[in-house]
Amino acid sequence: MSQSIIGREILRLDCIDSTNSYLMRLAAEGAPEGLVVIADRQTAGRGRRGRSFQSTGGLGLYLSVLVRPDLPAIDVPELTAWTAVAVCDGIEAACGKRPKVKWINDLIAENRKLGGILTELALNPDGTLSHVVVGIGINVSHKREDFDPELQDMATSLSRWLGQAFDRDTLAHHVITALDEMYRHFPHDRQGFLSRYRADCVTLGQPVRVLAGNAATPAVAEAIDDHFRLLVRYGDGSTAALNSGEVSVRGLWDYV
Ligand code: BTN
Repeated sequence: MSQSIIGREILRLDCIDSTNSYLMRLAAEGAPEGLVVIADRQTAGRGRRGRSFQSTGGLGLYLSVLVRPDLPAIDVPELTAWTAVAVCDGIEAACGKRPKVKWINDLIAENRKLGGILTELALNPDGTLSHVVVGIGINVSHKREDFDPELQDMATSLSRWLGQAFDRDTLAHHVITALDEMYRHFPHDRQGFLSRYRADCVTLGQPVRVLAGNAATPAVAEAIDDHFRLLVRYGDGSTAALNSGEVSVRGLWDYV
């Protein structure tokens, strides 16, 4: 078996603003591909669309990975979807249960958010891709009251889902191993990862609200196309292929 790329170097921190922001800074200084940063706590953990990601010390896995894929920048959102499948693999290897995925980047257990993925990129002056940082946050040991009040009805943790305590280091080991395995196939085995993503995705067939800017438009999620875009049908019968960079979706009645 070839040598691993992701996780050949792992940096562990007690506290940082955001492992993504920190790794983007290291990457600009020439940090090597595959470097992983894990923090016990983040003071400014970030999610997609400018949202924050609650990152209480000792309770979650907050991890970022640096990669330098040879890829057009426009294809980078696909890496988020591949990562979602890999993180499900890692969680399943660690605990025997497989979460679901809410398009495109949310990890779901029992209809609640278990974690999320934030992919960020930097371009070279000529517009080509320089590097990508993929950040993964997983709620591990939270009890209901550990979540901020506005999250209590829509978030969960591995220990709540499994009904038992769960070790973050074991989880980190399995997630990093699964990410490395995924990255060996990226981007060549697109059909394989597409079919696995479609199987993991809970959004398919669901009524959703398409969030873009301040608008929330009702639609039905019908399919994932070959570029991991979500195909939706609006009430007037028109359809659209949603790119994760432009929109996100919410279920009609609850989080999923
Ligand atoms: C989301 O919910 O939209 C994505 C959440 C991603 C959170 C992780 S935690 C590690 C990394 N550092 C960050 O600031 N965000 C990601």
